[in-house]
Amino acid sequence: MSDEYIVEMRRITKRFPGIIANDDISISVKRGEIFALLGENGAGKSTLMSMLFGMYEPDEGEIFVRGQKVSLSSSNAAAALNIGMVHQHFKLIHNYTIAENIILGIEPLKKWMGLFPYVDIKNAGEKIRELSRSYGLEVDPSLRIDDVNVSTQQRVEILKMLYRQAEILIFDEPTAVLTPQEIEFLLGVMRELRNKGKTIILITHKLEEIKQIADRCAILRRGKLVKVLSVKDASTQEMANLMVGRVVSFTREKSPPRFGETVLEVQDLSVRNEHKFEVVKNVSFSIRRGEIFAVAGVSGNGQVELADTLAGLLKPWKGRIILKGKNITAEKIRPRTEAGISYIPEDRQRYGVVLDFNLGENLSIKNYYWPPLSEHGVLSDEAIRNYAGDLILRYDIRSGQGVKTLTRSMSGGNQQKAIVAREISLNPDLMIFVQPTRGLDIGAIENIQRQILDERDKGKAVLLISLELDEVMNLADTIGVIFKGELRNISPAGKLSTGEVGEYMMGVRS
Ligand SMILES: Nc1ncnc2c1ncn2[C@@H]1O[C@H](COP(=O)(O)OP(=O)(O)OP(=O)(O)O)[C@@H](O)[C@H]1O
Ligand SMILES: [Mg+2]
Repeated sequence: MSDEYIVEMRRITKRFPGIIANDDISISVKRGEIFALLGENGAGKSTLMSMLFGMYEPDEGEIFVRGQKVSLSSSNAAAALNIGMVHQHFKLIHNYTIAENIILGIEPLKKWMGLFPYVDIKNAGEKIRELSRSYGLEVDPSLRIDDVNVSTQQRVEILKMLYRQAEILIFDEPTAVLTPQEIEFLLGVMRELRNKGKTIILITHKLEEIKQIADRCAILRRGKLVKVLSVKDASTQEMANLMVGRVVSFTREKSPPRFGETVLEVQDLSVRNEHKFEVVKNVSFSIRRGEIFAVAGVSGNGQVELADTLAGLLKPWKGRIILKGKNITAEKIRPRTEAGISYIPEDRQRYGVVLDFNLGENLSIKNYYWPPLSEHGVLSDEAIRNYAGDLILRYDIRSGQGVKTLTRSMSGGNQQKAIVAREISLNPDLMIFVQPTRGLDIGAIENIQRQILDERDKGKAVLLISLELDEVMNLADTIGVIFKGELRNISPAGKLSTGEVGEYMMGVRS
């Protein structure tokens, strides 16, 4: 046992019903390095790190921390060894404030009149502000989690770990929900942490991030360790091929568009948030059959509110939404689904799936009452099983027990694949997709983007809202840039360079 390694996981095996999530995996992490974990959706990355964080115990194998064999039976045990983790799915309490979430479990106490203990939330708020300023992760500690967007929630998770002075920091896909600018910031934060002697384990699907920041990278495939490599000696293509087990293509073949009649027309739409602030301002655009209309923009510029309003989750303040010539501005969600709208929301675990339903139920949750899944009001278990089983195959949704798998137990990327599969197969005229490939591995992204292009070629109208400029440039026929709630510069995709779109997104060009 050398002192060089701060963490050693030896011959770790973890089984779940129907699947070996980790199969005899050994990794050693050096003190002060950034160690990346790469692998397809469901390869076993989160499971492996959850064991280091004490959330599960391995069925077989041993874990050593600072040379000592340890038994990590709870996350408190891990925290006592200065191990911290930012989870892939936030573990925040929604009706608590940011400050309350960050100090939860280690509340600073003060005594009133020297007698009665109370939580010194004011002091904690100050400390949090200071932390967030010094790492560039600005938050307002007094806001409730319910009232902040996904990217802010992610920041809270990061701050929570920093507040606890963890030394071994596990980040499970921390950048999946951040903007390119925020990612740059976070990578800067990680470098800073490494310079201060901390050890970082980073799970990510973004190869450029690994290239930019990691020292070594372990590649997992279907529960097994494929290879550990030194990042500076490996190309991104090489890493991609190793993780997927085949050659991966980064560019999409796209046929020339054939536009048909108008499917969606948005007229002068404005949306106000609860503080009466106009988050979507006088937005007008239309989408035709066979067209992918992409809204590019930095997160927080109104794109989520625009999508929620079109899907019926939010009410507009003014303006009209016309679907296939019919005014649906006042319709609720279900009639919109029936009229031919499908929706992939930004926050998949809140609005995308019911975690306590099984995979088959989630795949049929929007159309279970349509034939052939129901006949004369009677659900057909067999039809649902076949329907869901077919989607599982076509979209390569990986899980332990197929249709019967509890959705909560599925890996994040596979939950996302399930949502995409469900929404595309509703066979809608209009698909509203917010970040459809978020959290997916590069092989899965290739598959999903291919499917979206196929739908467009079949004459569907697609509204794509993405923070990934690459995705916008790869898929869009028409691009509009949203900035401070205004949709500007609507132009055919070929007219704009990636650089120009980027500048519009930042508001430096108008
Ligand atoms: N609590 C659980 N119960 C049952 N099965 C589980 C549980 N946790 C994970 N699994 C299964 O173990 C496998 C590995 O899941 P894991 O979450 O580790 O994947 P991952 O590599 O993190 O994938 P992703 O990139 O999608 O997040 C998956 O097939 C998943 O369905
Ligand atoms: Mg995971």
